[in-house]
Amino acid sequence: MLRDKMLEGFARLAVCRMLLCGLFFHLASKRAAGAHNKKPNFILILADDIGWGDLDVNHPEQQANNTPNLNLMAEQGLRFSDFHSPASTCSPSRASILTGRYGLRNGVTHNFAVSSVGGLPLSEVTLPQLLQKAGYYTAMIGKWHLGHNGPYGPTKRGFDYYLGIPFSNDMGCTDNPGYDIPQCLGCDSSGAQIMRLRGSERQQTDCYSKVGLPLMENSRVVEQPLNLWNLTRQYRSAALRTMREARERGQPFFLYIALAHMHVPLAPPLASDATPSPPHSRAYAASLQEMDRLVGSIRSASNKDDTLIWFTGDNGPWEKKCQYAGSTGPFKGKWQTKRGGSSAKKTTWEGGHRVPSVACWPGVIPANTTSAALLSGMDIFPTLLSLAGVTPPSDRRYDGTDVTSVLLGGEQTGHKVLFHPNSGAAGRFGDLQAVRAGKYKAFYMTGSSEACGGDVGTQQLHDPPLIFDLERDEAEETPLKVGTPEYQVIAERVALWREGLLWDIATDPSVSEADYTTDDSATPCCEPTRPVCRCL
Ligand SMILES: *[C@@H]1O[C@H](CO)[C@@H](O)[C@H](O)[C@H]1NC(C)=O
Ligand SMILES: *[C@@H]1O[C@H](CO)[C@@H](O)[C@H](O)[C@H]1NC(C)=O
Repeated sequence: MLRDKMLEGFARLAVCRMLLCGLFFHLASKRAAGAHNKKPNFILILADDIGWGDLDVNHPEQQANNTPNLNLMAEQGLRFSDFHSPASTCSPSRASILTGRYGLRNGVTHNFAVSSVGGLPLSEVTLPQLLQKAGYYTAMIGKWHLGHNGPYGPTKRGFDYYLGIPFSNDMGCTDNPGYDIPQCLGCDSSGAQIMRLRGSERQQTDCYSKVGLPLMENSRVVEQPLNLWNLTRQYRSAALRTMREARERGQPFFLYIALAHMHVPLAPPLASDATPSPPHSRAYAASLQEMDRLVGSIRSASNKDDTLIWFTGDNGPWEKKCQYAGSTGPFKGKWQTKRGGSSAKKTTWEGGHRVPSVACWPGVIPANTTSAALLSGMDIFPTLLSLAGVTPPSDRRYDGTDVTSVLLGGEQTGHKVLFHPNSGAAGRFGDLQAVRAGKYKAFYMTGSSEACGGDVGTQQLHDPPLIFDLERDEAEETPLKVGTPEYQVIAERVALWREGLLWDIATDPSVSEADYTTDDSATPCCEPTRPVCRCL
């Protein structure tokens, strides 16, 4: 009886998704297009490995003052308290943000390597591609990590301009390394033979020594190894230049800034005096402050324009990096940590994917507001398109929702259900192991990533699922008792949603498959004949 009702509800919602939501989408787009004679500008700032608790205003108990500019953005705009990265590692999260689809659809379920041949499948349609077609100038600054080889680079996937690192800032050596654990040496110049490192070799040392970290402009390596300590300055001037040039041309722009902050190696500003700065324990805070200042200067440069700035993160903190990792705030994933390992980055515990997010748009987004709506980074895709008056192609299925009404109208409801894919803790990549429904979260499988010191917990299947009430238990410590009426209602509902989504994906004709093969020739390298890949 209950099951029938639920099925009926599911069918109704599916119909709503097709008809009503399409209608709403259409109306919202029209409204946005009508409200602005010119299309609005968009700046999407994505921090790397930032913790929910790193944003001062998320975690005032900490009494930190590391993010004054972001705090101000929240005060003049909207802060999301229940916002989730679409995955808990880099490439899958970014792929979902740019396509509005789960990894099981867009094919990107785990990270690409330095020598990856492929990238985000070419059959996927990206946000910048669609905005570019609608007349936007599209620029990206920072970490791409969706394939750098051949047709996979950012300028081939919808960006008019690109400056940045094609993957993570620890995936290559530099001459003046930043803070990391283990502390890496500078690029090795002793070897006579060219030897590009493969994944397995990296595992042994955790440091690259033969491939200089490249800085790319469009599809060309312009600096290798780059100077980590100058990167923020370079990113800032490229961002300001991009905005200025678009403004001069009178063209709306989409600027996607995927920061190197807060991913190790950290390279916070050096003190002007001779003291080696900053002390190790302060390196994270100094880097956070540097990131915040960068966000502040981008924001003040955009103030004159009609610009939406949306800040968020790609996944939770990388706790294996000890004092160089961020804070999950109260989302400690205690059920897991009591059994070993970390419950942050690479896991489906809250610490893995609940990320800070603030949006501001002077005169459009009401100031000093907070939304507890359940949202995902996948929602950025349909929402920006809607605000730009662009309808996404109808030949594929999307998982993000147009949240214009949350952004502009203070509407408090987001996703009824949100799935958290496995990004490396346990089981098959991309699997939908955890399901969020309202205040409840169910786990079909649990697992951890490596904690500071190297401890890892074991993976565990849960049938029946573990269910937590996040309102009562944000630390995910004590699951509901199996067999109680509350448990049964939730378990049944979640099982139906999960079956529904799996069916939807199984019958989706637009599912893509990513090429994860590696080949040394795909490694970005200025001078392959030198012992270390570097530019002269
Ligand atoms: C990078 O910074 C160093 C000083 O730290 C400076 O000498 C050098 O010119 C800078 N390079 C660029 C490209 O800004
Ligand atoms: C923003 O809201 C908070 C809490 O509601 C309030 O304490 C604060 O004074 C407000 N700030 C401004 C600038 O209105």
